[in-house]
Amino acid sequence: MEEKINLAIVGCGGMANAHASGINAEPLAQVVALCDVNRANMERLRDKFPNKESIKLYDSYEALLKNPPEKLRGIMFVTPHTQHFQQAMSAIEHGYDVLVEKPMVTNSDHARKLAEKLKATGRQLQVGFQAPFSAEFAYIRDVLKNNGLGELQTITAFSCQGWRNGTLNSWRQDPAMSGGGQMYDTGAHLFNSVAWLIDRPAEEVFCWTDKKGTPVDINAAITIRFQGNVLGTVTISGNTPGWQEGIWLAGDKGRIVTGIHAARLEHYDEKGALIKYPQVTQKGYTPIGNFVQCIAGKAEPRCGVRYGVLHSWLMDALYQSDREGRPVKLSAPPLD
Ligand SMILES: NC(=O)c1ccc[n+]([C@@H]2O[C@H](COP(=O)([O-])OP(=O)(O)OC[C@H]3O[C@@H](n4cnc5c(N)ncnc54)[C@H](O)[C@@H]3O)[C@@H](O)[C@H]2O)c1
Repeated sequence: MEEKINLAIVGCGGMANAHASGINAEPLAQVVALCDVNRANMERLRDKFPNKESIKLYDSYEALLKNPPEKLRGIMFVTPHTQHFQQAMSAIEHGYDVLVEKPMVTNSDHARKLAEKLKATGRQLQVGFQAPFSAEFAYIRDVLKNNGLGELQTITAFSCQGWRNGTLNSWRQDPAMSGGGQMYDTGAHLFNSVAWLIDRPAEEVFCWTDKKGTPVDINAAITIRFQGNVLGTVTISGNTPGWQEGIWLAGDKGRIVTGIHAARLEHYDEKGALIKYPQVTQKGYTPIGNFVQCIAGKAEPRCGVRYGVLHSWLMDALYQSDREGRPVKLSAPPLD
């Protein structure tokens, strides 16, 4: 039987619990260590794994890196946003591949430093946005690459959610832990989906946010001019009951509608006719599935540091535009 890829999870809260079933469904993956500053969260998560008796528990990621379990190959960071940079950097410096939950980091300087460290060490980093790992997103990107929508004209992304009230008094509304508000939380899926699909940097942005009486952005209205004069808009409504989202890509020879988790795929041809659920032959993964298969040398990374760099360059410009009340031109991000 093929040797499993041993993983550690740092941060054992809501999203780590959501990842547990994906890990258990991936034949190559095995969790051998958990780490959290909250012992109860760690113990609760441990119970979800079939090999729970042998999983080692750590109270800090420093302790994990100092005294790791044997044959540890990869570390997943599922912690509050502003911790991602230091944690991922330390793990890479200790020789591990890392899967970092979104957003990769919360400023472009950190993104650049991680990209440089990865280049110097040859280690793998992936960002845990689900959509780029899906078969549907791989399909859309192939359509775009093969000029299937003609010349891309515009892209629009929207989400609404009762995020303001649902995250009151949590780290998500503490800028020191979150790096920002709904733009860095659900908004990150919108920005990354757009960046991943069209795979090009933004050149100029304008952004308004509204904090709705909290310390962080809740609502946002954004316009973006991407390289190649693709014009984009993103609207984030974080104080609305219910959940709705979508992404609209429009070219001069067709259009596609999808979702920020890729759960929807509508492809309209040049005459505007809907190609009802087009045949998707591309491979889909969970982020963990792709991560371990990359470690095993069986797959190419779907959402590497390039997308963390594109995303953080965009976020810095959006917050600057909002602060200064004017359009902001972006410098070219380091993407090679
Ligand atoms: N991809 C998605 O759809 C998705 C969905 C939800 C959350 N997330 C991301 O997952 C990450 C965690 O979010 P969450 O909802 O699980 O938050 P959470 O608050 O439920 O869990 C965070 C966990 O990290 C632990 N923690 C905090 N500081 C730590 C430290 N220094 N070392 C070790 N553990 C520490 C906390 O005790 C807690 O158990 C965030 O980056 C978030 O954006 C992604």
